[in-house]
Amino acid sequence: MNGKITVFGAGNVGGAVTRRLIERKLCKTVVLVDRSPEKAQGVALDILEASPVDLLEPVCVSGEDIEQTRDSEIVIITAGATRKEGMSRDELLKINAAIVAECVSKSSKYSPYAFYIVVSNPLNVMCHVAMRAGQLPRTRVAGMAGILDSCRFQYFISKELGVSVENVQAMVLGEHGEDMVPVPRYSTVAGIPVTELLDEQKLAGLIGRTRDGGAEIIRLMHTSAYYAPASAVVQMVAAVVMNKKKILPCASYLSGEYGICGAFVGVPVKLGANGVEEVVEISLTDGERQALHASADKIKAQLALLGETC
Ligand code: LAC
Repeated sequence: MNGKITVFGAGNVGGAVTRRLIERKLCKTVVLVDRSPEKAQGVALDILEASPVDLLEPVCVSGEDIEQTRDSEIVIITAGATRKEGMSRDELLKINAAIVAECVSKSSKYSPYAFYIVVSNPLNVMCHVAMRAGQLPRTRVAGMAGILDSCRFQYFISKELGVSVENVQAMVLGEHGEDMVPVPRYSTVAGIPVTELLDEQKLAGLIGRTRDGGAEIIRLMHTSAYYAPASAVVQMVAAVVMNKKKILPCASYLSGEYGICGAFVGVPVKLGANGVEEVVEISLTDGERQALHASADKIKAQLALLGETC
């Protein structure tokens, strides 16, 4: 492995991801690419200027010339417009589809074997756009947000019960949006299903807050979240770079798994050196399955708006 990672988009998420990758020593080089070369240069320089204090070895360069991204092992797509207050992820659809397609079609010429992690919204559709634009196999593309949504649910459960976040596991599947599917049956505190610890009303409140998690941050900060999204990306990168074979909820292209075909839907996948090495199928109740299918139908409707066939 040459340890090269490319990050498209030098905004808040791209900058936070770059910084975390370097801190965690998950790469040797990060190539930061932005529509504005000056922005990419500025963020790269800011990070590099910390190196005398932090004594971090990896090199961070801005990629004005796309050639610099050649042979990246991982490509992270954070480029795109971000959601403003009152704006749905869907409104970003067409704007970001063009941006993501441009990034991936350029990048895949230089890094055809990279693993692509998509962060841009609406996330599930942008994964599809990336796969098509780069003609990538489905094992080499995944979307970040299942981890982010699950982390939010985990955090809210830990606060509600007054227990360490380390005790909490949570599972959120489906779309990264209002139709996401938190699955309390598979969410546990020290191994105990959360359904045994919280009544339905409390649980419904936490699920509602999880669904609204991204919007809550926008209302407070007047811009989209970036620390937690960056942490979610870093967890995916670590799983691939260290060949952890870790099971994580990610948006993955389904070809019949869960009875769903032709869309990127948040499901548990095994991530390792070969990217998405397996889509893990867990048993779902009729209600959970219906919710997952409704989520997939929403993603397919967004794809249709873009004229993408499933
Ligand atoms: C969020 C954005 C990243 O959920 O979609 O905060």
